[in-house]
Amino acid sequence: MDKIIITGGEPLRGSVRISGAKNSALPIMAAALLAEGSSTISNVPRLRDVETMADILRALGAKVSFSGDNQVRVNPGHTIKALAPYDLVRTMRASICVLGPLLTKLGKVKVAHPGGCVIGPRPVDLHLKGLRKLGAKIKMEHGYIVAEAKSGLKGSEIYLGGSFGSSVLGTANVMMAATLARGRTVIEGAACEPEIVDLANFLNKMGAKVRGAGTHILRIHGVGELRPAEHAIIPDRIEAATYMVAGAITKGEVTLKGALFEHLQAVVDKLEEAGVIVNRTREVIEVRLRDRLKAVDVTTLPYPGFPTDMQAQMMVLMSISEGIGVIIEKIYPDRFMHVSELMRMGANIIREGPRVIVKGGAKLSGAPVMASDLRASAALILAGLVAEGETQVSRVYHLDRGYERMEEKFSKLGASIRRIKE
Ligand code: EPZ
Repeated sequence: MDKIIITGGEPLRGSVRISGAKNSALPIMAAALLAEGSSTISNVPRLRDVETMADILRALGAKVSFSGDNQVRVNPGHTIKALAPYDLVRTMRASICVLGPLLTKLGKVKVAHPGGCVIGPRPVDLHLKGLRKLGAKIKMEHGYIVAEAKSGLKGSEIYLGGSFGSSVLGTANVMMAATLARGRTVIEGAACEPEIVDLANFLNKMGAKVRGAGTHILRIHGVGELRPAEHAIIPDRIEAATYMVAGAITKGEVTLKGALFEHLQAVVDKLEEAGVIVNRTREVIEVRLRDRLKAVDVTTLPYPGFPTDMQAQMMVLMSISEGIGVIIEKIYPDRFMHVSELMRMGANIIREGPRVIVKGGAKLSGAPVMASDLRASAALILAGLVAEGETQVSRVYHLDRGYERMEEKFSKLGASIRRIKE
């Protein structure tokens, strides 16, 4: 397992190109199953999760090929299977988004229940509720979701809001299934994330009729079949926000290329409140610190609220800011695996259930720490960038799931960072 070694204290300066969005590429690769023929998806980040999705599509019988410039071709062919095996699905929660496409195209599907992960239980009740409303018969059998719709799916009015708000992949699954259902489907309480808009745009290029993406109400008119399409993935707003925090906490000046400012409003708002200067031009977003970081309070919410995927990274910023900040994690109340590792580096944090009090002013010191999940890994790297001395982050395979060549990008910005293969 690889480690990443960082010697802290270098202010980051220069520009970084933001990669395509992981959480858009994954459902869009699954959506390509809906067509007869080969779809071409570009600006796809080369990540472990993307490779895993490719392996799952291949296990289903699709042809998946990558070409150098972040492009992937997906051709389901005529023999896609209806079984997504446990040994692959358990490695990545997002595998669940083959459920909707396979069900609506084949009329039956067996997908291993993705189970939970370190950030908390990952239920799929909203996915199943939506598909049942479209007429699917679904049962759980030996850890597999077994769904069928012998006479195909039928449009319906569906409310998909859950006790933690809207569901991103739940919305994706039901929207994809509805594209080939008979008649009209309305999804209320839909997720508004930019990745849902990107998926809807891809589906419409395939000939689907999806309206309202980006709002809480989606209207889908079923069509007879979908054709292959070409599509470029939107930039990764969480990667972009991660590099913005890095520029701020190292007191550097970082320019982001290829990020979409309109996807980053909640993060920009919070960073500006913390004393960060964020300038945007037509092409880039520039980040630097005004003078010193001030503590802020963060509550994670569905988009356009503050993203839960940036909670761990903000905790690092709050740890070294002046004052006391509170984090309330409304999406995954247990998403705090990074707290104990940050405390080993000197952060001063008190956790009380889904809330965390961060006493700022910490002088972080480098230490050997262990990554536990994707965004916690990013937070440990950020902490290493500002800590005194050397930090060794182990189990960086978590990081490789969602950040393309992070140590390379940070090194180009002047960080003292390297990967060692173990
Ligand atoms: C997506 O996961 C993202 N993953 C996650 O990013 C992200 O944290 C999450 O959305 C929230 O923004 C991908 O897009 C691949 P949800 P998803 O369904 O869709 C509850 C990362 O770091 N819920 O929106 O699986 C759920 O437990 C990853 O890139 C139900 O109760 O998340 C959670 O509390 C981590 N029932 C909340 O809703 C359901 O059927 C939001 O989950 C589904 C979800």
